Amino acid sequence: MKLGVVTFAVILASSAPGAQAAGDPAAGKQKSATCSACHGPDGNSVNPVWPKIAGQHAEYARKQLLDFQSGRRENAQMTPMATPLSAQDIDDLSTYFSTQVIKPGTTAPEHMDLGQRLYRAGSARDGLPACMACHGPNGIGNPAAGYPAVQGQYAEYTAAQLKAFKAEQRANDANSIMRDIAAKMGIAEIEAVSGYIQGLR
Ligand code: HEC
Ligand code: HEC
Repeated sequence: MKLGVVTFAVILASSAPGAQAAGDPAAGKQKSATCSACHGPDGNSVNPVWPKIAGQHAEYARKQLLDFQSGRRENAQMTPMATPLSAQDIDDLSTYFSTQVIKPGTTAPEHMDLGQRLYRAGSARDGLPACMACHGPNGIGNPAAGYPAVQGQYAEYTAAQLKAFKAEQRANDANSIMRDIAAKMGIAEIEAVSGYIQGLR
């Protein structure tokens, strides 16, 4: 009887939408020493040029690591870190960091108004969709759809990614989804929405 209940619970958990299974978080923790130099031992980096990766969906982190390996996404610091990883390392590390909890930042008062408006409602004038439509009201994204968590992230990193999408320097987004969105934003809007996201939780 007891065993039956446990088995049922396990089946439920593993069939939940967006369930991540492949990696072993304990093995990932063991392999994470090099990563922690920049991203912090728990995925909360202390320098805004290095993204926080704590709590990011394992599937999304996995895709980014594979994209760095294949050259679809390029970064002078991160590419050499991804290159030597095996497929198992990638699964273990992505799973480990996904089990960590992000420490969100705060929103500077000057970014609250415009930043919040863009995030929650977009801009009809510029044909800009609400970020919330995909990244969620609290910025936790949607793992099944491949929409990353963005909440609490350093504004400097978020703005750098949006500028890179806008300039087509980052082009690993399927169907140009983020390049088309970033193209509709000016620099002031990028700064505002990134500032807002930094305090989103
Ligand atoms: C020397 C510093 C450094 C080290 C060490 C490092 N990273 Fe990174 N990582 C970065 C930078 C910088 C970026 C952002 C790259 C960009 O701007 O495109 C990044 C991005 C990432 C991303 C994508 C985050 C996102 O939100 O898109 C993941 C996942 C990641 N790193 C995982 C790792 C793992 C796993 C390791 C260890 C094997 C590691 N990193 C080691 C600097 C580092
Ligand atoms: C239609 C869905 C959709 C909308 C709307 C959307 N995004 Fe995205 N966003 C995505 C997808 C998909 C990715 C992942 C791209 C990839 O696979 O590398 C992404 C990635 C990002 C990233 C990179 C995250 C990282 O850590 O690598 C940032 C930052 C971002 N979006 C910000 C925004 C902002 C700000 C808005 C609103 C102005 C917005 N997005 C609207 C789908 C969307």
